[in-house]
Amino acid sequence: MTDHAFVAGGTSGINLAIARAYAERGWSVSVLSRSQDKVDAALATLGEGALGYAADVRDAEAVAAAIASAAEQHGPIDALVSGAAGNFVSPAADLSPNGFRTVVEIDLLGTFNVMRGAWDHLRKPGASIVNISAAQSWLPVPGQIHVGAAKAGIDQVTRTLAMEWGPEGVRVNSVAPGPVEGTEGMRRLAPTQAAVDAWTEAVPLRRFATTDDVVNAVTWLTSPESAYVTGVVLSVDGGLALGGSGMIHRAMHAE
Ligand code: NAP
Ligand code: COA
Repeated sequence: MTDHAFVAGGTSGINLAIARAYAERGWSVSVLSRSQDKVDAALATLGEGALGYAADVRDAEAVAAAIASAAEQHGPIDALVSGAAGNFVSPAADLSPNGFRTVVEIDLLGTFNVMRGAWDHLRKPGASIVNISAAQSWLPVPGQIHVGAAKAGIDQVTRTLAMEWGPEGVRVNSVAPGPVEGTEGMRRLAPTQAAVDAWTEAVPLRRFATTDDVVNAVTWLTSPESAYVTGVVLSVDGGLALGGSGMIHRAMHAE
């Protein structure tokens, strides 16, 4: 039986690129997201045999049922990617409790539901999990209090499960991208050219990530090449994580 990758939120953007990378490597692939239309469109690009499920990651039962069905057809999961997320920009003072809760429930509770639902279908040496975090996990970004809280929570889920599941040979890591070009996330965070330019200026490598930059980190973390790496949050952000020191670098080189 071929290796099996399950990608939660794998029907558009970065997560779809991740699912496609596994399909191109000859893996069996399963994806899940809310919209049946997006699931169908994704399946059309993932090749024969890919499985798709329309479910909300906030619905633990639906998530568990989808994962069980995928494992029954494709076999136990070798790579689990949890990337479903919601985002919008709102100053904290304008954000309703339900707005905060909605993003935390999609990102953080959703990731727990995916982990919990998948456990019985991946608990074997060599299985590897990647949770999709974001620079906002550690970098306080105005208008992103809900996202920062959710992604920081995801990274602690990663570290905690690396402790709990390591003895069974299962690795758990996060990938934390900075701005990624051509994505829904950055359409929301940087809707104008001026905002794109300002984000670019904040990145020491002076460019947005490509989806391939993120895909390469995820596939490495689920490959034997990273066999001794667990519990890390791998920034894939062109140095954005260096934050203030990047600004100081520019200050020291100002003319
Ligand atoms: P995207 O295209 O909007 O992808 C989000 C995916 O999650 C979609 O497939 C969406 O499909 C699914 N989804 C959303 N809510 C869901 C729910 N409640 N239940 C199940 N599925 C749900 O976004 P993206 O920009 O590529 O971002 C992908 C991931 O990378 C996210 O985790 C994001 O936080 C992270 N990230 C992105 C950037 C960036 O620059 N874009 C930077 C850092 C981190 P449905 O609408 O069908 O549900
Ligand atoms: N500013 C402030 N609050 C907002 C908002 C915005 N732009 N968009 C939604 N909200 C609030 C709503 O007002 C609501 O709160 P309320 O009941 O107090 O009014 C709450 O968030 C839930 O909104 P709703 O539209 O019911 O949520 P949903 O579950 O249907 O959708 C979202 C979730 C809002 C995150 C939606 O944008 C989404 O589905 N995003 C997925 C794609 C995405 O964000 N991709 C980027 C990933 S990085």
